[in-house]
Amino acid sequence: MTFAFKKAAIVGVLIVGVALSACTAKKDMSNASLYERLGGLSAITGVVDKFVANVAADDRINKRFAKANMSRLKIRLVQQICEASGGPCKYQGQPMDVAHKGMNINEAEFNATGEALGKALDESGVAAKEKNELLAAIGSMQGDIVGK
Ligand code: HEM
Repeated sequence: MTFAFKKAAIVGVLIVGVALSACTAKKDMSNASLYERLGGLSAITGVVDKFVANVAADDRINKRFAKANMSRLKIRLVQQICEASGGPCKYQGQPMDVAHKGMNINEAEFNATGEALGKALDESGVAAKEKNELLAAIGSMQGDIVGK
């Protein structure tokens, strides 16, 4: 084997190696935002669709939404979850205490709504870590939603 050919062969092997590792290496998500770990906007939109379907199927809370504008609500929920999870969106709805003012929502209704979201996250295949992080972020809004 000539020197030039050997060199070319070694370079070739290196290139194939680098290309293969780039293909097989899993993206390191340990430093990624919750938004990225959830799968971004399309995944969040899927979760919100399932969440709203679960709310509509739950007799403990669905009557509350009888007069709601569901397509607007879905858009607001996507914006809200996107922003709360560190994504690029800006929530454009009313603050939670204003949006739920006069509804006198109780804790059982709040918990049922949280259950509907948890179920939607399970149905979307979201892992326990990300599920718990999102539920904690939403749970922190309880004081602005219950008893207003
Ligand atoms: C679990 C946490 C909750 C979150 C994150 C949440 C989020 C929101 C958002 C983003 C809006 C839209 C505000 C706007 O358009 O400006 C909204 C409206 C509303 N929420 Fe909630 N909400 C929660 C709990 C609840 C509960 C427990 C109920 C009742 C059982 C409820 C009933 C409603 C209703 C009826 C509207 C008005 C929709 C309309 O008029 O179109 N929410 N909520």
